[in-house]
Formats: sequence, C-alpha cells, structure tokens
Amino acid sequence: MAVVNPDAPVITVDGPSGAGKGTVCARLAQELNWQLLDSGALYRITGLASDRKGLALDDESAVAGVAANLDVRFEPTPIGVKVILEGDDVTDQIRTEEVGSLASQVAALSEVRAALLQRQRDFQALPGVIADGRDMGTVVFPQAQVKVFLTASAEERGQRRYKQLTEKGFDASLPALIEDIRARDERDSNRAVAPLKPADDATVIDSTSMSIEEVCNQVLDLVNKAGLT
Ligand code: DC
Repeated sequence: MAVVNPDAPVITVDGPSGAGKGTVCARLAQELNWQLLDSGALYRITGLASDRKGLALDDESAVAGVAANLDVRFEPTPIGVKVILEGDDVTDQIRTEEVGSLASQVAALSEVRAALLQRQRDFQALPGVIADGRDMGTVVFPQAQVKVFLTASAEERGQRRYKQLTEKGFDASLPALIEDIRARDERDSNRAVAPLKPADDATVIDSTSMSIEEVCNQVLDLVNKAGLT
C-alpha cells in the first residue's frame, strides 16, 4: 500500500446505498489516478470474517477484535479491485445481500467503527484519496478539501438495484428492494454511532435524474474549484 501522508488531499463521498457512490468514486479514482477507499467493503469484510468464525454479531468486543486484525488485501486489477480475505478471493461474496446485512449489523457497533478508523485513515496517500462511505466527511476525514453527499430517491435506488440483479440473472422484487432500502436508510440514519448525515460543509448532489457522467463532472468541478488538480 502507498505511504500514508497526512498532507495528501482528500475527497469524501458519503450517502445512502444505491446513490451511485461506488461507481462515481471508482471512475474518479481512475481518472485522477488517486487512491480509492471503499470503506463499506471493510464493514462487509468484517461481517463476513466474523460470521466465518461463528461469532454472534452482537458480541461487540469479539467482532471489534476481528475488525482490528483483518487479514485483508485489496489488489487492483484492470476490471476493479480484488478483495482477498485470509488468502481467499471474496470479491463477489462481499457484494451479496447476505453480507450486506452482516455489514449493516457490525457497522452499528462503536468498537468496530473505532477499530476500523485508523485502517481507513491509512489510505490517505499522495497524490490523493477518494473515500466512499457514510461517515467519511463527518468522522474519518473531517479535514477533507472536497466533501460530497450523494443521494437519490429510494424508488430510483431500488430501480437501479433491480436492474443490476436482474441483469445478473437473479430473481428480484422491486417493491421488496425499495422496502429494504428504506429500512436500511432508517437504520443507518438513526443509529447512535456515526449516523448517516451530510457534513455541515458537504455539497449535496441528488443523482435521481442524473447520469454517472453528470455526477462525476459535478464532483470534478468541485475538485477544480478547490485547486486540487
Ligand atoms: O456501502 P456499502 O453498501 O458497501 O456498506 C455496507 C454497510 O456498511 C452499510 O450498511 C453501511 C455500512 N457502512 C458504514 O456504516 N460506514 C461506512 N463508512 C461505510 C459503510
């Protein structure tokens, strides 16, 4: 991994799931040639690793122990980042709904969030880092030069997820997906630790009727205005 540098510039992109953060951050990281922090992947990996060890997900100190000692590697490849947990390629597995639910449970534990804090900050390296998550601008990188809160309506996010799943040949119910998104938003926004909310100095972008290109261009405008390129 690149050398940690507290002077490296930071762009944070927070927001609910399905708003397009992952795609936008991956494109921007590639375009700018900056580091990419997918913080959700760390929560997903923690959930998966804890489950594999047979831990109860409300056993806060045990799960935090797993988070603190994760044996994980992120390997960049031409088609995206490969995630290797204890030598095992879990790239596809961590994206399943099942692991998403494990992630959401462990993300509500404050000891787990504390255990993952430094690991996330270690992604700050030159020429810069784009951090994708829920509390990047509020907790992990409060000093970030550019902060974006990317959102979209629950219906639109449900449609996007429905399209992704059906294109992969999975059965899906649109109303159930929208309901699930609303329930997850509710949990993420109302939890006691690091609730999902825009930083006071974040620019809110509603991607409901925007293309990925339009969102990327809007973020790049902010990056240019901040003098980061
Ligand atoms: O972005 P995602 O769907 O991969 O995130 C998985 C879960 O982790 C989701 O329930 C939100 C949570 N999460 C979090 O609490 N804080 C972050 N910085 C990133 C994700």
